[in-house]
Amino acid sequence: MSKAQPGMSMERADIAFEVNGAAVSVCVPPVRRLSSVLRDELRLTGTKIGCDAGDCGACTVLVDGEPVCACLMSVASAAGTVVTTVEGLANGRLSALQASFLDHGAAQCGICTPGLLIAATALLDREPNPSETEVQDALGGVLCRCTGYRKIVAAVMDAGRFASELSTDGIAPHPPAGTFSPYSDGEKDEAPALASPSPRLSRGEGKGEGQHQLQRLDLDLDRRMPISGHAVGSSPIRLDGLPKVTGGEKFGGDSFPADALAVLVVRSPHHHARFAFGDLDAWVKTRPGIVGVFTAADIPGKNSFGVIAPFADQPALAEGFSRFRGEAVALVAGEREAILDLDLSDFPVRWTELPYLLQPCEAQAGGAQLIHENRPANLLTTGFVERGDPEAALSGAAFVVSGAIDTSYVEHAYIEPEAGHAYMDGGTLVVVACTQAPYMDRDDVAKVLGLAADKVRIVPTATGGGFGSKLDVSLQPLIGLVAMKTGRPAALAYTRNESMISTTKRHPAEMKATIGADADGRVTGMVFAGDFNTGAYASWGPTVANRVPVHASGPYATPNYRAEGRAIHTNGPISGAFRGFGVPQATIMQETLYDELSEKLGLDRLDFRLKNCLRNGSETVTGQRLEAGVGIAECLEALRPHWTRALADAEKFNSANDSRKRGVGVASCWYGCGNTSLPNPSTIRVGISATGDVVLHQGAVDIGQGSNTVIAQICADAVGLPLEKFRLKSADTAITPDAGKTSASRQTFVTGKAAEKAGGALREIMLRFANVSEKAAIALDGTSLVIREGEATRHIDLSTLKADADGFVFRAEESYDPPTLPLDAKGQGKPYAVYGYGAQIAELEVDLKLGTVKLIKITAAHDVGKAINPLLAEGQIEGGIAQGIGMALMEEYIPGRTENLHDYLIPTIGDVPPIETILIEVPDPEGPFGAKGLGEHVLIPTAPAILNAIRHATGVLVTKIPATPSRIRAAIRDKEAGR
Ligand code: FES
Ligand code: FES
Repeated sequence: MSKAQPGMSMERADIAFEVNGAAVSVCVPPVRRLSSVLRDELRLTGTKIGCDAGDCGACTVLVDGEPVCACLMSVASAAGTVVTTVEGLANGRLSALQASFLDHGAAQCGICTPGLLIAATALLDREPNPSETEVQDALGGVLCRCTGYRKIVAAVMDAGRFASELSTDGIAPHPPAGTFSPYSDGEKDEAPALASPSPRLSRGEGKGEGQHQLQRLDLDLDRRMPISGHAVGSSPIRLDGLPKVTGGEKFGGDSFPADALAVLVVRSPHHHARFAFGDLDAWVKTRPGIVGVFTAADIPGKNSFGVIAPFADQPALAEGFSRFRGEAVALVAGEREAILDLDLSDFPVRWTELPYLLQPCEAQAGGAQLIHENRPANLLTTGFVERGDPEAALSGAAFVVSGAIDTSYVEHAYIEPEAGHAYMDGGTLVVVACTQAPYMDRDDVAKVLGLAADKVRIVPTATGGGFGSKLDVSLQPLIGLVAMKTGRPAALAYTRNESMISTTKRHPAEMKATIGADADGRVTGMVFAGDFNTGAYASWGPTVANRVPVHASGPYATPNYRAEGRAIHTNGPISGAFRGFGVPQATIMQETLYDELSEKLGLDRLDFRLKNCLRNGSETVTGQRLEAGVGIAECLEALRPHWTRALADAEKFNSANDSRKRGVGVASCWYGCGNTSLPNPSTIRVGISATGDVVLHQGAVDIGQGSNTVIAQICADAVGLPLEKFRLKSADTAITPDAGKTSASRQTFVTGKAAEKAGGALREIMLRFANVSEKAAIALDGTSLVIREGEATRHIDLSTLKADADGFVFRAEESYDPPTLPLDAKGQGKPYAVYGYGAQIAELEVDLKLGTVKLIKITAAHDVGKAINPLLAEGQIEGGIAQGIGMALMEEYIPGRTENLHDYLIPTIGDVPPIETILIEVPDPEGPFGAKGLGEHVLIPTAPAILNAIRHATGVLVTKIPATPSRIRAAIRDKEAGR
């Protein structure tokens, strides 16, 4: 934020330069960031803001042909230059690079894509056929949190192929420039219009002033659209892909209304503090352009939200004291320019710092202060599973291993900080923001603001990564409060720092376990105990505490078992959902012990896992009999040739090298898809319009993982009509039925099943109308429904049929809720209807003197049941592995120290090695077309496989994660010293 005197406008100047081929002139303070001017004045919102500090590269633009971070450049420095943004890359048609990105599936959420495209364009301009190293060097400053970078590298290296295919005919003129108005007008009217005119969902496409007349994808890309009946198993270009590569995609901060008030959040600088406000009215009066300050006293409803209703405990604005650093205590709303110039250093709030507890052991110590009065010993909740007699099994085991491992806070680090705007539409509050869970947001916002649920409408924007954290509301009730109180639209985009300090993290875990096996190498018993630091508020702590004991055995038969997971409050950051809900941490504990146990047994590590893995007919630790669809053995078997080769390579390398050693590690995963023993239904509506379109109401938020495409593919084959006939209506609580939250690897399975059922029902309705059998083939030809059975063909003119209020002439709506059973007091029951499985091998090299790790290759075999879209499945696997690498080797969030993307390190394009993906298809009878979930599974084995590989290379196991060079070096020193 600028530090000018309160209320004092910065001097403005006319600054002229060229953008995307057109001359522009702006009158703004010369020190304003170029990124801000491009976005706010010129409405070129394809340039993204991930940090405003030069750390993420999302704002990369070309200035006189050179890539620069627009957030680090003043607009004055751009005077007289030629600037190219992502909107300038497509010159009437997609550039070769844009086409290649779509073809390779290199854009998932798409928030990083403009920066990557720009950086890669600069590279390709000077080197049309770059090597992998050249690509990594050129793109090293642009972060992507979704893809794992491998498809990005491939897309850049392959762009030349598309260059040779693209014609230079038909180039459209550049869009007019220099006449743009700040912020958009009429965005409120645009919000409901979510149906796209083509088979593609194109939220935002064509709305931005910088958009060209891009009507079609190019060349081979359209030809990848599958024929009728073959959508499942094909890899069409993702249906929402086009705006991701043109800059047209509208994320949370890309469509603020022109008349919106800007909002600032005042946050606690202390881990624990009491506070009192001074004269807020007087402060506001002396600041021109500031409209008001809002505190907990202004909240009209119940000032307490949370994702799990019985545990809801988090105030939207703290009342009298704050429980963690970064907690929101007040809102300042004002005109945009006034807020830009506002200095909050004299905001009238007095802080009294209080003693705080950051470690679970401190919070559990006798006499420790209670963070919530109603939670004795700062214990939020406990999860528990017990089966058989683990103590007897361990005491009778031929071999027993024990260990303890601690993990750290991990930050989600999506490239899009939370952003959105809210406005009143009559008596309804509309919140337009990035999210993973629109219906949960609606209910929380309604509760906090004292509104009926149907008086709150959530319109999700494109979401630039979530990974679990955007399941919790963040700014939604805050901007809603300002909109309600002022009657004006209210807009807020978190800074990187406030995103990191105020939103959820992966739970740090302190775990202990013991595992025993008989002399034949069969696991006989296991005991696990894990304390999970859930921070100041509940968030998803109960889910983690309950899910971990169910999964801590890994996908292995464990007849005698006890596992306990405890969620413990501290004054640390709130821990919530992060890809795996605690299972990645627990798997580190179990899989590293499996390596120790196989070594004691003298068994090959892969063979040991195969000997013990679950199979059809096995019973899990919760007593659930798995009748079918258990694919872990197939995953491990698929890895065997890679395992044999990797071990031989390592042995050869190690015999020739002393200072660097190679290691190979393997680890497995299993993961129950959907909520643990709780209902989590999805509903899908699909219909045929009088114009001959198939309109799919698809309420599962696509945060990059591909549900917009996958759910449509499933529905297309269930109806029996081609995917290209589909139009999508994306998530909007006023329009689409509730498809639940995008979490717990549930959308492909649960919403996909609802789509399969709805598609089947729609087909049946049409066939019944035509009075033909279920074997009849259907097609759409213009407004004709064409039905063929045997030699007979019948045409039904849809335009003559009566359409309902939604414009449907035929419609179906179906729900699906996975059949689960509650867990009893010993954790016995059927917590999930479907599990997914996987196993990964990590190959790496450790420098014994420095403790540094160089990853060589990851090989990943994942049982997805049925790969609905193999390209998207691969993308999920590669992205999950990249996050697993970060968790294993570098990511450690420390409150007060690593609250930005400079000090908090996530993997860059140079940190992710080649990844070989093996898709295993062991169908689950419950899943749509046999499919299982995948999103969480893919991260789980990576960190333990890496730790096992480090141990294989060095002989030491690092027990505090991440395994940084200093920790690896310290472990090696301890071993050398015989400690
Ligand atoms: Fe400019 Fe991150 S580097 S926004
Ligand atoms: Fe790169 Fe989401 S696709 S951050």
